[in-house]
Amino acid sequence: KNYHVVIPAAGQGKRMKTGRNKQFLLIDHIPLLVHTLRVFEEDLLCSEIVLVVNQEEIAMMKDLMKEYSIAKVSHFVVGGKERQNSVHEGLKVLSGNPVVLIHDGARPFIRIQVIKELVASVEETGAAIVGVPVKDTIKQVNGTLVAKTVERNHLWSIQTPQAFYLKNILQAHETAVKQGYIGTDDASLMEYMNQPVSIIEGGYDNFKVTTPEDLLFAEAIIQKRKGEKES
Ligand code: CTP
Ligand code: MG
Repeated sequence: KNYHVVIPAAGQGKRMKTGRNKQFLLIDHIPLLVHTLRVFEEDLLCSEIVLVVNQEEIAMMKDLMKEYSIAKVSHFVVGGKERQNSVHEGLKVLSGNPVVLIHDGARPFIRIQVIKELVASVEETGAAIVGVPVKDTIKQVNGTLVAKTVERNHLWSIQTPQAFYLKNILQAHETAVKQGYIGTDDASLMEYMNQPVSIIEGGYDNFKVTTPEDLLFAEAIIQKRKGEKES
């Protein structure tokens, strides 16, 4: 089954501390965002990419698509203040009721196999997300004192992509706007609407490139994957 994908890339990259949108940072000589786009360009089930960008970066983004032969971007949409606003703008340009994935531009290592499982799952539940079980012990802290250790068995770190039917997730976004609700991911808007969300186990390497040391991890994963391809 085909899907569309909305890719928010309209952030500022403040935590990366390079003074510019981290989407353009080079990893193995190629811009971060291009690594992400290539996954969807390659995946035959992806029929269309909606790219959400900063107004002042539209021209640079279009140049990138040409330079790296990314042909599936159907719309360049100007983003909003928060990630949630950017995703909402991206969703608005789509029509009908296709399966739509939402995936961070800054998450370049998602595997096509995981996307397949996610799309199969959204067809069953109506909403599906990717995550991994937490590795650390998690404690609740008040000021400088530990309040308690949280039972870890049921805790997952949540990643993207997150998959929905367009009509459902658009409605969730519209309700969120009306009620002033800001969620930290898209699925939380569905949960807010009391809709079920299922979860697929992804990989620890599907991390979001966020802080400077993540660039080192990213380089390492690329080298590891090059090795996998050769052997
Ligand atoms: N994003 C977006 N619109 C925003 C904020 C974020 O499209 N208003 C995008 C980012 O470009 C990124 C993804 O959402 O691909 C995840 O956000 P994050 O990792 O927080 O990126 P930034 O917001 O750019 O980074 P920071 O929070 O450190 O400034
Ligand atoms: Mg951010």
